[in-house]
Amino acid sequence: MIAPLLRGLGLAAWLGLCMGAVHAEQELKPLDQTLALKTCTGVITDACVVRHFKDTMEASVIRGRLAFQNYCVLCHGTEGKGDGRAAKLHTPRPYNLTQSMAPRDYIAQIVRKGGEAMGRGKGMPPWGDQLTDEQINDTLNYLMTLRVNK
Ligand code: HEC
Repeated sequence: MIAPLLRGLGLAAWLGLCMGAVHAEQELKPLDQTLALKTCTGVITDACVVRHFKDTMEASVIRGRLAFQNYCVLCHGTEGKGDGRAAKLHTPRPYNLTQSMAPRDYIAQIVRKGGEAMGRGKGMPPWGDQLTDEQINDTLNYLMTLRVNK
């Protein structure tokens, strides 16, 4: 009797957490340039934005760029064009992310689960175990800025 109830509660908590994460993502605000100029004493550097304006889209994109540089450039290249050093080793080739048009939800899934789980090339590894939810969200925010068609 009690076990299904607990499971139910667990699921509710889990759903709540997920919705909280989505909510937090939507709450990211654009950087207040005037405040940033004042806080960063005239020079708005990445370090200053990340330190003082953590909950802005700009800070998330900066963090996302760092994660991308660490984990993705080897295949996708420094500008995400699919021309990294290891690109030639993969068939199909790493995607040119500047041309990506897939919905964000799909991109989130392929990043978490990898290419194979999505019926795509195995060359795209799964990152769900390696990166935190925040890192994945940040990376997605960064990927969106790379797109030619925003
Ligand atoms: C070992 C090489 C490799 C690494 C590292 C890699 N990818 Fe990929 N990625 C690929 C390949 C290959 C594909 C193309 C799969 C296909 O088209 O079937 C791909 C496809 C994708 C796609 C699909 C784009 C679309 O619009 O369909 C996304 C998004 C993506 N990668 C993001 C990332 C991110 C973010 C990282 C770093 C966290 C990353 N990749 C790291 C090889 C890699």
